[in-house]
Amino acid sequence: MNQKVSLAAVLFLFLFSTGVQADKTDRLIRKANRYFEPLPQTMPGSENDTPARVELGKQLYFDTRLSINDTQSCASCHPLGDGKGGMDSLPTSPGARGGFGDRNTPTVLNAGWQSSQFWDGRAADLADQAGQPILNPIEMGMPDKESVVKKLSAITAYVEAFTKAFPDDTPPLSYANLAEAIAAFERTLRSESRFDDFMRGDKAALTTQEQSGLTKFIRHNCIRCHDGPMLGGTLIEKLGVYKDFHNTEDKGRHRVTGDEADVMMFKVASLRNVAITGPWFHDGSGKTLEDVIRTMGSIQLDIELKEDEVADIAAFLATLTGKELDKEK
Ligand code: HEC
Ligand code: HEC
Repeated sequence: MNQKVSLAAVLFLFLFSTGVQADKTDRLIRKANRYFEPLPQTMPGSENDTPARVELGKQLYFDTRLSINDTQSCASCHPLGDGKGGMDSLPTSPGARGGFGDRNTPTVLNAGWQSSQFWDGRAADLADQAGQPILNPIEMGMPDKESVVKKLSAITAYVEAFTKAFPDDTPPLSYANLAEAIAAFERTLRSESRFDDFMRGDKAALTTQEQSGLTKFIRHNCIRCHDGPMLGGTLIEKLGVYKDFHNTEDKGRHRVTGDEADVMMFKVASLRNVAITGPWFHDGSGKTLEDVIRTMGSIQLDIELKEDEVADIAAFLATLTGKELDKEK
């Protein structure tokens, strides 16, 4: 008799507590949908992306002949495949001639959903961005657009591929079309995560700790800057709102505009795949994700996050890793 009663009590408590947890998770999903969105299916600008254009863009993306000494392609700094996160995991990257730039390489995965490209947002979109590293003297180092077009025009396969990809243009092989084709390929680099499953209502997609990290991310107001489908990527904000960032040499957008109001203004980084795209920050100075979370709390929000909060937020951020890239899954 007693045993039966306690069994019933245990069963009741179990059902009750799982019910409470399920309710809590439902509420969290609803709340999260107010600030974030699941990853959309297609990137802006993909309406005209034919298979021929994407295929050409892919060839160009991996082709070292786009650099001055045939040593470097986009993929040298933004490697793809084999679980690679669309960046090289170095603080800063060597260019075709071995010199280093002063900024960390961001990931190309999902990049086209951002409102602008580069850490300071100086490129409007993927095509605008793609034309730049080829001519950058410390990156791929080609002298000018004409030399790139001339070099590719001497390769029959490219003349044919551009004609297929841009049948209505004369000439099909132009610098603008090269950038457009690379952008078309990049618009296919979509990487969906467990967070998207959760946002769409799969309650089991995130563990209790990950859900608790999400709650803290919202409660501590990280969402003031990191919101939307990319958890960032749309705003240009001051880096160092309450306290200076530890490196004030690179003044962000000020470099582009010279405007005093743009000192230390940087694009709010997208947090998609952030757990696998370290080292972090525009200068690659963030060595662990935990350090970066602590710094963000301190300089952007004026809060000292407790160790368990940092751990929970880090666990949540790891749920933003593309499923195909998440090696532990
Ligand atoms: C030498 C290394 C290197 C090469 C080669 C290179 N990139 Fe980058 N890429 C970078 C760095 C560094 C940045 C950030 C620069 C900045 O913000 O000022 C960047 C930024 C980007 C971004 C912006 C992402 C974001 O979130 O803002 C995209 C997209 C991109 N590169 C694509 C390409 C493509 C396409 C090519 C080939 C045409 C290419 N990159 C070649 C290093 C490289
Ligand atoms: C006032 C706006 C703002 C707030 C609030 C904010 N961030 Fe950021 N965050 C940024 C900006 C801007 C960057 C880009 C930093 C850079 O250029 O190096 C960034 C970068 C990051 C990065 C590094 C991304 C990378 O790829 O290097 C992480 C991680 C991050 N934030 C997490 C958080 C967390 C967690 C919170 C809440 C505790 C938070 N942020 C609050 C503006 C903000």
